[in-house]
Amino acid sequence: MEFNVFFAELSWWLLIVILYSRPLADIFQKKFFIYIVCKRKILGILCGLSALLHVLIFLTASGHLADFLLDSSFWSPNSFFGWGSLALVAMLFPFLTSNRFSQKFLKGKWKNFQRLAYVAFIFTGIHLSMLKGSWLVGFLPVLIWAGLWFWAEKRSDGEIDRKCST
Ligand code: HEM
Repeated sequence: MEFNVFFAELSWWLLIVILYSRPLADIFQKKFFIYIVCKRKILGILCGLSALLHVLIFLTASGHLADFLLDSSFWSPNSFFGWGSLALVAMLFPFLTSNRFSQKFLKGKWKNFQRLAYVAFIFTGIHLSMLKGSWLVGFLPVLIWAGLWFWAEKRSDGEIDRKCST
C-alpha cells in the first residue's frame, strides 16, 4: 500500500471512530464507547494529521504541491479531487481547535467548530464514492451514522459531555 493511501485510510477510519462513538455511547452506555468519546480530541488531531499527510504526500509525488490551491481541477465538484479538497478545508477547523486551549478560548462557539467534522465526513464520503465508482463505499458509513444519531437523539441527556468536560 502506498503511503498516501495508508494515511487516507487511517484518516477515514479515525473519522468513523470519532463520529460513531458519541451516538453509540448514548445508545449503549458502554464504558468502551464513553472512553472513545473522551479521547476524541487526540483522535481528531491524529485524523487531521493523517488527512494532511495523505494530501501532502500525494501532491508532492504527483508534482502538484505548488499549484494545488490555484489549479481549478482540484476544486471542481465534478471530480473526486474537489470533494477531497472541500473535506480538507472543513476538517482544518475542527483539527486546529481540537485542544483544551481552543475550547477555553472559543467557549460556546467551540462545538460549532467541532461540528464541521460532520461536514468533512460527508464530503470525504463523496470523495470516496466518486473515486471508487460506488455510492455504497462512502455513503453507507454516512447513512448508518445518520441513523445512529437519530436513534441516539432520544436517549442523550448530555451526561457523557459532562463526563468528558474535565
Ligand atoms: C479530509 C481530506 C481527505 C480524506 C479524509 C481523504 C480520504 C481518502 C480515502 C479514504 C481514499 C481511498 C484510499 C483507498 O484507495 O483505499 C482517498 C483516495 C485518494 N485521495 Fe483523498 N482524502 C482527502 C482529501 C484529498 C485531497 C485534498 C486530495 C487531492 C488534492 C486527495 C487525493 C486522493 C487521491 C489521488 C486518492 C487515490 C489514491 C490512490 O488510490 O492511489 N484526497 N482519499
